[in-house]
Amino acid sequence: MHLQCTLCGKTYAPDSLKYVCPDHGDDGILDVVYDYDEINRVTSPEKISASRENSIWRYWDLLPLKNRADAPTLQVGWTPMYRAKFLGAQLGLNNLFIKDDGRNPTASYKDRPSAVVVAKARELGERVVTTASSGNAGAALAGMAASAHIPAVIFVPESAPQAKITQLLIYGARVLLVRGTYDQASDLCLAASKEFGWYCRNTAYNPYTTEGKKTGALEICEQLAFNQKSKIENRKWFAPDRIFVSVGDGNIIGGIWKGLRDLYALGWIDKMPKLMGVQAEGSAACYNAWKAGTDEITAIEAHTIADSIDVGLPRDGRRAVRAVRATNGEFITVSDEEILQAMPQLARGEAVFAEPAASAAYAGLLKAARAKKIDRDETIVVVITGNGLKDVKSAMRAAGEATVIEPTLDALKRMIFDF
Ligand SMILES: Cc1ncc(COP(=O)(O)O)c(C=O)c1O
Ligand SMILES: [Zn+2]
Repeated sequence: MHLQCTLCGKTYAPDSLKYVCPDHGDDGILDVVYDYDEINRVTSPEKISASRENSIWRYWDLLPLKNRADAPTLQVGWTPMYRAKFLGAQLGLNNLFIKDDGRNPTASYKDRPSAVVVAKARELGERVVTTASSGNAGAALAGMAASAHIPAVIFVPESAPQAKITQLLIYGARVLLVRGTYDQASDLCLAASKEFGWYCRNTAYNPYTTEGKKTGALEICEQLAFNQKSKIENRKWFAPDRIFVSVGDGNIIGGIWKGLRDLYALGWIDKMPKLMGVQAEGSAACYNAWKAGTDEITAIEAHTIADSIDVGLPRDGRRAVRAVRATNGEFITVSDEEILQAMPQLARGEAVFAEPAASAAYAGLLKAARAKKIDRDETIVVVITGNGLKDVKSAMRAAGEATVIEPTLDALKRMIFDF
């Protein structure tokens, strides 16, 4: 229906603005507002659940795009959600699910927003796309741009893990390693986009990243309905009680909130899950604001091993805090040690290999479960937002050393196997 400023509530005709509400400099992030009656006229939970489109495009009628031909052809989204029986039993949780978004084409959740932004760029006839990124958003945009044959310019901190930089290069993006933090890379990208007219995907600036990120919530509720067959018959999907997700800029959790709000407004789910935002102790600006009872974010100097959530000034922090508060969720902080310990636990317990920022969400669940904050029968979803191969150095720290032996059976016989 229109774009709406999340600060002042002013509305604008679709596509009349490219980025933010002009009344607040670069801070007036826009929400996409839909005509829910119209969506209910053209589609339904059953119709979507019968779709053979195994990607985010199964939700086409809930996305702000016009031409199906503009959508990148890579298979983005519709990632597996596993019932985590083994880890659930360890934690005393009967209904634990792990959504593995490391299974996306460039191996992170960021493929969702980048696919939607590239589709929008094509619709608008943009010639170059750009973004600042701690690594994953850039890799995702580079991949989607390669699929759509649009040039991409990506700004990442010089310190980004090598695998992520390699992804940017292999997809053919123009890669700029910024001598500075992610926050500085963001400002530079914004300035470059204004100077050169490149289409900017920056988080909390481009309104369509949130629309891509909401698709994770749509999938969670649709996939849970498969576990609750009566709900589909009931013309409904199924919302979990809590969703654990790690928070850097706060755009993923804000996007998940948006997806849930869309589903609730459509009448396709019966309740809003509590959103559990997990931050690293050394990068906890959203947690701090939530704890202080405000949604004004104060910048901090961020330091965490989880590079994807190493953010001093969360660009979408206000929405992240609102998402948690409005759903009666909580923010949780976890130490780098806890993040590293959670990686092998998740990999050995459920065979899902998470990068540190993604492992943080699971570490947050462990902490909440230990503090007895969760009822055993609650339906819990942990979103694993990036694959562990993205940052092999950290994974090696968490995994321990391999054993080197001489190539003889004698050498092997001298070893002790304790299984
Ligand atoms: C793997 C991973 N997890 C979590 C996040 C956090 O998302 P957001 O910055 O939108 O809060 C990111 C963002 O880069 C990420 O790449
Ligand atoms: Zn405004």
